[in-house]
Amino acid sequence: MTLSQPKSLLELNEIHREIEDMFYWHQAALLKADFTAAKNLLKEYEEVVLNHMKEEEDILLPLYRERAGNIRGGDADIFVLEHKKILEWLGRLKLRLSRLNPPNVDTKNLIALLDDEAHFKKFIEHHTLRENRIFYPEIERIVNEKEKGYLLRLLTFSPEEKPPTKA
Ligand SMILES: [Fe+2]
Ligand SMILES: [Fe+2]
Repeated sequence: MTLSQPKSLLELNEIHREIEDMFYWHQAALLKADFTAAKNLLKEYEEVVLNHMKEEEDILLPLYRERAGNIRGGDADIFVLEHKKILEWLGRLKLRLSRLNPPNVDTKNLIALLDDEAHFKKFIEHHTLRENRIFYPEIERIVNEKEKGYLLRLLTFSPEEKPPTKA
């Protein structure tokens, strides 16, 4: 789903909800023991998360670094560090998923995966909260109308669209 021309940069937060939904579908497939779908859905989820983080880091973070005020819990490096941790988590989840070996899935391995996914979800939830409460409101505050229009055209912030590759 492509967002219909948001007026405010804050509306771009919607992508976080869409990303969360994608993880839900992956977990729903796991619970239905459809491991092929679960694997594919995690792959799609990962792609969308990577694109989203890339857009945040390449387009919004430089502006944020330059102009954002000193906000507790809102240091630019925190967001980058959290993105790195998200990448590490995804690697771990993929490893656990690859160990399931369907059709003979060991329940212990499945529970280990679900436990890790619960931790991962908490981590993502925390990151999203930090962005929704600090990062996006601050970006909205520090850009002028002209820049806002430019950013809104530049950012895809859609699960279906890939950001342009940086030269
Ligand atoms: Fe982020
Ligand atoms: Fe984000």
